[in-house]
Amino acid sequence: MSELAWWQRGVIYQIYPRSFQDSNGDGIGDLPGISARLEYLAALGVDAVWISPIYPSPMADFGYDVADYCNIDPIFGTLDGFKQLMGHAHRLGLKVLLDFVPNHSSDRHPWFEESRSSRDNPKRDWYLWRDPAPDGGPPNNWLSRMGGSAWKWDEVTGQYYFHAFLPEQPDLNWRNPQVRGAMDEVLRFWLDCGVDGFRVDVLWLLIKDAQFRDNPPNPGYRPGEPDHHRLLQSYTEDQPEVHDIVRSMRATLDEYGERVLIGEIYLSVPQLVKYYGVNGDGAHMPFNFQLLNARWKADEIAGMIRDYDIALPEYAWPNWVLGNHDNPRVASRVGTAQARVAAVLLLTLRGTPTLYYGDEIGMTDGEIPPDRIHDPAELRQPGICQGRDPERTPMQWDGSLPNAGFTDGRPWLPIATTTSVREQDGDRSSMLSLYRHLLSLRRSNAALVQGAIDNVEAYGDVLTYERRYGNQCLFIALNMGVEDATVQSRSGVVLLSTVSARIGENFVQGANSLAASEAVVVAV
Ligand code: NOJ
Repeated sequence: MSELAWWQRGVIYQIYPRSFQDSNGDGIGDLPGISARLEYLAALGVDAVWISPIYPSPMADFGYDVADYCNIDPIFGTLDGFKQLMGHAHRLGLKVLLDFVPNHSSDRHPWFEESRSSRDNPKRDWYLWRDPAPDGGPPNNWLSRMGGSAWKWDEVTGQYYFHAFLPEQPDLNWRNPQVRGAMDEVLRFWLDCGVDGFRVDVLWLLIKDAQFRDNPPNPGYRPGEPDHHRLLQSYTEDQPEVHDIVRSMRATLDEYGERVLIGEIYLSVPQLVKYYGVNGDGAHMPFNFQLLNARWKADEIAGMIRDYDIALPEYAWPNWVLGNHDNPRVASRVGTAQARVAAVLLLTLRGTPTLYYGDEIGMTDGEIPPDRIHDPAELRQPGICQGRDPERTPMQWDGSLPNAGFTDGRPWLPIATTTSVREQDGDRSSMLSLYRHLLSLRRSNAALVQGAIDNVEAYGDVLTYERRYGNQCLFIALNMGVEDATVQSRSGVVLLSTVSARIGENFVQGANSLAASEAVVVAV
């Protein structure tokens, strides 16, 4: 597997740092906490950790409002502490990816403070300032993804500024070469520190229409959906000029050898694949989020796998994401039994998998009492926006301790359920054991890492496909239904099953049984 890059062979694990491990009793996870859990991650069998933002921030959007791009927030630790964490990770063979948030800064970033100080400040044009419309209202109809107008009136200078998210997150002006230069320095700062790559926040939103044209109404909008769905995002997302920016970020990373550029992009597959660039000079991996909203039906997933594989240019490396900090957890989306099937799917598909912390123990969405809601998106759009706190609850390390071994203090969000790493550790039938088995199987079978994916089919509730490399062929069958099923196969040996007692059994040529919610990997 040596001709592949590490990020093609490897598996990425996302850490939401506020919720992974607290080391100082303030109820918020931190870098020493992450460091203390790196051995766990190495033993789990992942290859890289992506840490959501840890930069100094007023935390209006929990770190996605950056006040200093080249430092660490004291809540999480120090820059030296981060370098130690990275050294520790590297000694264990783990890569470290940071979250790069270039679309917007915090309104407390010195750049914005300068920009808003006067109309003729040299940094005025670093952000998107516009005069009011003739009636004194916002310059156009653009809407914030956190609800309401995306324009905030500034009394001092008598103009509006644009914020795609919170008013505390003003959008930078990526048409300004100085902004590009400053952000390039940020990338270089962290690359010089030794980070192995970046997940780039809202990469598809960086450039807005130069003429600030109104977005057209969305004919598909239904009342109750988030506010910004009322409009098509024709002039606020996926603008053609964005690809030039992606290309220049990639060129910077390429100067540093084998580093990885991953883009957060919520677009249809045909639009998404353009972010690979021309002949692969764009992002290494535009995140493929299709599984996050997929209807959990064998034929739909089969179609999605086939269509994605066909849409990828030949230089593009695929990837799959099953969960993240912005979407309900997989175990809550599909149920605990099917979450095991989903684990087999994620780790046997072609392409780099990204796991979300806690999914390896089947964590479900937490229940958040109204007085403990933190997510600004939910607080600004109560009843409309599905809050993101439920999928951000603390990692459950030890069920027998108060607060699940996450903190000695009061956790910033409540603990979701009672299961824990400790409880599942020695249990061969646990979700954790299933993930460990899958990750080690992936590591030791070239077909799973670099094999083609063929014969993707759905028969009723059963999804099947093959992964082939050289003369190795693995047959994967997933029963996505609640009834027992049969599946046609060649003869072979069961290497892995979500029903663990079955491992080592023979599959016969012809019909083989699958239990409800059983997934198998068979060497045929
Ligand atoms: C995407 C991030 O994943 C999300 O958590 C955040 O609120 C927005 N970008 C704004 O940065």
